[in-house]
Amino acid sequence: GGSIKATLFPGDGIGPEIAESVKQIFDAVQVQVEWDIHFVGKTVDPKTGSFITWDSMESVRQCGIGLKGPMATPIGKGHKSLNLTLRKELGLYANVRPCLSIPGYKTRYDNVDLVTIRENTEGEYSGLEHQVVKGVVESLKIITRTASKRVAEYAFHYAKLHGRKRVSAIHKANIMKKTDGLFLQCCREVAEKYPDLVYEEVIIDNCCMMLVKNPGLFDVLCMPNLYGDIISDLCAGLIGGLGLTPSGNIGDNGLALMEAVHGTAPDIAGKNLANPTAILLSSVMMLQHLKMTEPADMIHKSILKTIAEGKYRTGDLGGSATCTDYTKALIDNLGK
Ligand code: IPM
Ligand code: MN
Repeated sequence: GGSIKATLFPGDGIGPEIAESVKQIFDAVQVQVEWDIHFVGKTVDPKTGSFITWDSMESVRQCGIGLKGPMATPIGKGHKSLNLTLRKELGLYANVRPCLSIPGYKTRYDNVDLVTIRENTEGEYSGLEHQVVKGVVESLKIITRTASKRVAEYAFHYAKLHGRKRVSAIHKANIMKKTDGLFLQCCREVAEKYPDLVYEEVIIDNCCMMLVKNPGLFDVLCMPNLYGDIISDLCAGLIGGLGLTPSGNIGDNGLALMEAVHGTAPDIAGKNLANPTAILLSSVMMLQHLKMTEPADMIHKSILKTIAEGKYRTGDLGGSATCTDYTKALIDNLGK
């Protein structure tokens, strides 16, 4: 078939190096993806109020699919967070963060297999904070039926599609009676349409404790924005950290922007030391989303094999391979 066009945001710091790794592996597996590359702007775009330009967001809308490296939030006031601008402006309402053990990289648990599905547009991330009087500040946590329902629909649909068994709604409705209460109500309504899936409600503090003690108790976890931010980092920690976990932001009509969630690592930027695994796994998610399962599987298997072999691991995984050494090893292991 013809080639697919996808937006690529290499991002800042180590972003361009790890994005290069994706490009090389896509070339090696001959994936028919043509990249529309956009860098983060140096000035605030008046149309977006952010360093993200209107053009680059338009590219994601047109392509329908994109991949993003880490972006530094520039110092200074009067502009919005780059990540949040993308999520909000593009209507990427569900943030999907799978967390799967990498067998060759030993952590406390061997078989972690969790998926955090995070509401991605509202909650405490609405950015509505102000000072009431001196010494008293207020933050508005917005929870709407529309956003809660659509992320719950997404979570259950995802669970069914991926042969998962259980959906846990994570909340603090014992205290946040109205906001988290509405979120739970929406999850319950959707759960009724999926009688084959086990549905449960777990209070967030207890969820953290249970995740750390026995991650096998959970499967798909669905929750409001801030809880998802926190729980997804906790889950990443169970398998070795943010350098090893992919993430996908999903919107309507198949619109999706996959991203590496880790930072820009300015200390090692430009030194060929970065681990590209998170953005590579995000690119695998992107291919899966495009139903290009064959190259997705090839890349995924090669990552697992290369890390398991242990010879070409980057510094963060206790090895001494450079980003390009590791990428070459991945290419060598394709199809093996
Ligand atoms: C994430 C990040 C972002 C978030 C930051 C960089 C705005 O931590 O994707 O989880 O808080 O959502
Ligand atoms: Mn986070």
